[in-house]
Amino acid sequence: MTRVRFISADGNRVDEVEAAAGARLLDIAQANGQPLEGTCEGQMACSTCHVIIDRDDFARLPEASEMEEDLLDLAASVTRWSRLSCQIYLPEGLESLTVKMPGEARNMQGR
Ligand code: FES
Repeated sequence: MTRVRFISADGNRVDEVEAAAGARLLDIAQANGQPLEGTCEGQMACSTCHVIIDRDDFARLPEASEMEEDLLDLAASVTRWSRLSCQIYLPEGLESLTVKMPGEARNMQGR
C-alpha cells in the first residue's frame, strides 16, 4: 500500500489516503474529493488532472511519455514537477507519495 498525501493549492489542507499499487492517481484523488476535474477521463486531451508531485517522489514515479509532456506544456501553473495524474499508476513498493494541487484548483472552486 502507498500512503498518498494530497496538499491543497494554498498549502493549508492535507488529506491522507492509502491506495494499492496499480491504482491510478486521478481515481484516488477524485475518490478523496480532491478538486481535479479529469474531464477527458485519461485520454490526454484536457490537462485538468494536472498535479504537482513532491520533488523527492517525482523521481520515484515512472517517467512521463512525450505526449504527456506536450500536454503539460499547455497546462497553467506548470512546474518542473508537474504530472498528469491520469497517467500515473502507483508503482509497486512505493511507500508514500505527496501531491499538491496546482493553483487553478482554487479558482475552479470559485474562490
Ligand atoms: Fe484529461 Fe488527464 S484527465 S489529461
